[in-house]
Amino acid sequence: MATERTFSILKPDATARNLTGAVNAVIEAAGLRIVAQRRIRMSDAQAKKFYEIHAERPFYGELVGFMTSGPVVVQVLEGENAVARYREVMGATNPAQAAEGTIRKQFAQSVGENTVHGSDSPENAALEIAQFFDDKDIVG
Ligand code: PPS
Repeated sequence: MATERTFSILKPDATARNLTGAVNAVIEAAGLRIVAQRRIRMSDAQAKKFYEIHAERPFYGELVGFMTSGPVVVQVLEGENAVARYREVMGATNPAQAAEGTIRKQFAQSVGENTVHGSDSPENAALEIAQFFDDKDIVG
């Protein structure tokens, strides 16, 4: 199986509750390597662009508002089948439906404040990574 990269965000509810280390421990225990990481305050423009695909959905404004409400940690994760593997480790979008042991089951508070984002395809992972990282800042 090929080594792959995915894009991850530890959302404002994770930084607010001082959970970034606990979430990273789950990521690393799952065999994914954190090959780039930066704590940032997402601008309104950055969040709107990042979630552009959801612009027509009723929760778009709420989602952008939440993602700019506090610091986030943007990351690049690397590993075998990293995109699918991380989706599995995150658990379902709605924590009420997330499987035992997943990040969202353990830490998420609601479908909006759900602790982590992970890319949904290798193509989107490449686009999302490029929005936040230069190649030289990713150290595999
Ligand atoms: S997914 O993963 O794309 O299939 O999930 P989806 O249900 O389409 O949700 C996409 C992102 O929107 C967030 N979301 C919400 N935010 C606020 N309020 C409500 N009701 C809501 N429903 C969904 C959800 O957390 C997803 O964010 P990301 O960062 O992509 O995981």
